[in-house]
Amino acid sequence: MAGLLDGHVAAVTGGGSGIGQGICQAYAREGARVIVLDIDSAGARETVGLIAAAGGKASAMTLDVTDRRACNAIAVEVASSGSISILVNNAGINRRNPITADKAAVAKDWDDIMSINLDGMFNVTHAFLDQLRATKGRIVNIGSIQSFVHVTWPNSAAYTTSKHGVLGFTRSLAAELGKDGVRVNAIGPGMIETKINAEARTRNPEMVATVMRHTPLGRPGKPEDVAGPAVFLASDLAAYVTGSIVMADGGFRSI
Ligand SMILES: NC(=O)c1ccc[n+]([C@@H]2O[C@H](COP(=O)([O-])OP(=O)(O)OC[C@H]3O[C@@H](n4cnc5c(N)ncnc54)[C@H](O)[C@@H]3O)[C@@H](O)[C@H]2O)c1
Repeated sequence: MAGLLDGHVAAVTGGGSGIGQGICQAYAREGARVIVLDIDSAGARETVGLIAAAGGKASAMTLDVTDRRACNAIAVEVASSGSISILVNNAGINRRNPITADKAAVAKDWDDIMSINLDGMFNVTHAFLDQLRATKGRIVNIGSIQSFVHVTWPNSAAYTTSKHGVLGFTRSLAAELGKDGVRVNAIGPGMIETKINAEARTRNPEMVATVMRHTPLGRPGKPEDVAGPAVFLASDLAAYVTGSIVMADGGFRSI
């Protein structure tokens, strides 16, 4: 049976863990050749191994999305074996120091979160822009419920700001690149069980309970819960969808 992404080449940042790994696996299952980009080389190789074991096509490249020059170099290297037609900007971090915490720590959180979650998204998108325009490609940015709200637990001003920025970037690129046939959308995950929040979930079960009380589906998500919308947005099923954010949050934002 034909896959929804047959013939596509997809680059996924942060593809070595969690949501990014789930998206890489789903894209490969749907027929795409996947380029797994991650600062964590071992994680990226693990994803390639999982895809190869399932009969899919993937390769791993080590990339720090904050390094603009490296992003440009990787885009050139990738182009030598075929332009990408799908880009997923997924690499991201979160830290939860209150804004009133130690000044140096709060300033470092701000700098690190902005440089990975926002500058990183710009660096990679800009580096691959010519390829995506040439292939009438699709961009999927990973936002959050925090693209809209400061969630019920405090202490994430930098992360909330960065994820609002992801949505702004998505909408402005959709407006600008529509004429080139490039679609740009976002996904807003709720609480998904990955490494990014493993420690917080263990340390603070009350935080999980608070989020679950506000989640109609009543359970945390798994990476595959985000991978489905990511396949949809990258595929021709979403041919008339751009500038949108699809929530994968168990209903958190709708109530
Ligand atoms: N898990 C959640 O509850 C949740 C909710 C909303 C949004 N998100 C977003 O989903 C995305 C993926 O997060 P996750 O939950 O899978 O976390 P994760 O920690 O499991 O994965 C993040 C990946 O990004 C990579 N990464 C970090 N810094 C990088 C850099 N400078 N360059 C390249 N790669 C880098 C990490 O090595 C890791 O493989 C993030 O943007 C996160 O903000 C997660």
